[in-house]
Amino acid sequence: MSLDLTVEKVGKVFAPAARAVDAVSFTVPAGDIAVLLGPSGCGKTTMLRMVAGLETPTEGTIICGARIFSRAGDEVFMPPQHRNLAMVFQSYAIWPHMSVAQNVEYPLKQRGLSRAERREKVEQALKLVGLEKLADRASSALSGGQMQRVALARSMAYSPDLLLLDEPMSNLDPELRGRLRTDLRQIIKQAGLTALYVTHDQEEAAALADRIGVMSAGKLLQFSPTEELFGRPLVPAVARFTGASNEMHAMVIDRSGAFATVRDEAGFQMRVTAVDDLKLRETAHILFRPENVRLSPVEGADGRGRVVERQYLGGQAVYGVEIGGARIEATDLGTTTRWKVGDEVGVKIDPNGAWAYRAEISA
Ligand SMILES: Nc1ncnc2c1ncn2[C@@H]1O[C@H](COP(=O)(O)OP(=O)(O)OP(=O)(O)O)[C@@H](O)[C@H]1O
Ligand SMILES: [Mg+2]
Repeated sequence: MSLDLTVEKVGKVFAPAARAVDAVSFTVPAGDIAVLLGPSGCGKTTMLRMVAGLETPTEGTIICGARIFSRAGDEVFMPPQHRNLAMVFQSYAIWPHMSVAQNVEYPLKQRGLSRAERREKVEQALKLVGLEKLADRASSALSGGQMQRVALARSMAYSPDLLLLDEPMSNLDPELRGRLRTDLRQIIKQAGLTALYVTHDQEEAAALADRIGVMSAGKLLQFSPTEELFGRPLVPAVARFTGASNEMHAMVIDRSGAFATVRDEAGFQMRVTAVDDLKLRETAHILFRPENVRLSPVEGADGRGRVVERQYLGGQAVYGVEIGGARIEATDLGTTTRWKVGDEVGVKIDPNGAWAYRAEISA
């Protein structure tokens, strides 16, 4: 059965000067996949380990369904083995001397299930991850991707309430990761599990998650449904970490509803989404993704720029373009390169995909 997971103002201080997790709160509704996304050292693993009960929070409460996993103030702490959850790590810890089926069966044996029950659950779990044909194969004779599926089958065989995954695919090559993450989402959804997944890869997060939480230096900056997080980052750090690599400053010259028009010091003008409540003439900090910029012939274009760099990547090209006083990047999909260095181009930035924040408070 899947259950809600609620984390309330949870913190972890390892040493007086080292606060790994700081007042983090979020709720994962039953059956949802939530991803914690953030750079190395931001506290993702520590947060996950606190949910698992492998680490004791120094502050806050963790609740799963109707059960309190831990509450810091009055020392409530449920031991990990009572939490009925499963964890999958980067190192999948498959026992090489056992067959695929034996690996999946092992935790069921430990839980004292009958032979018949075990056989049924092993079969179900292997089917779920698409390995039913390899049940008798020696685990040492599997590819990395197959081993990861065995680890997943093993963790799901005993019907946990909660599935926790810590960068489970970081040992796999990029192509396999891409394929496996789509399968992984389907497998978790089919099993109906509530899952908390940790990664520093924004594409992986987007492909897997119903909700994403972005962490930075122990704090949770935003926790939103996936498309909302990518479509409207609430602070510059979230925009940046989810791929908005273009940044500039410009003055607000007009406001209308959710949008603002801004102009930079060299006269480049564009429409942006005002995430903060910006005032006329104030300086805005603007961020947008290279994919939200469109280059076109100069005729009839509102904004103009000059191509200063071209990086051809096969299926797409990334252009460095000077606009006004800033230099930005623009992605152009397809195998044909349309522009060369020195070309003057029209530049259109999607106002829904360009976010403006108050410059003096944003970092
Ligand atoms: N047992 C520990 N004792 C002291 N400090 C720790 C301990 N475990 C983690 N930390 C510190 O807490 C901070 C957060 O670590 P954590 O492992 O949670 O980061 P992370 O986001 O998972 O990083 P990565 O992406 O590299 O795995 C880091 O500064 C780390 O050095
Ligand atoms: Mg980690």
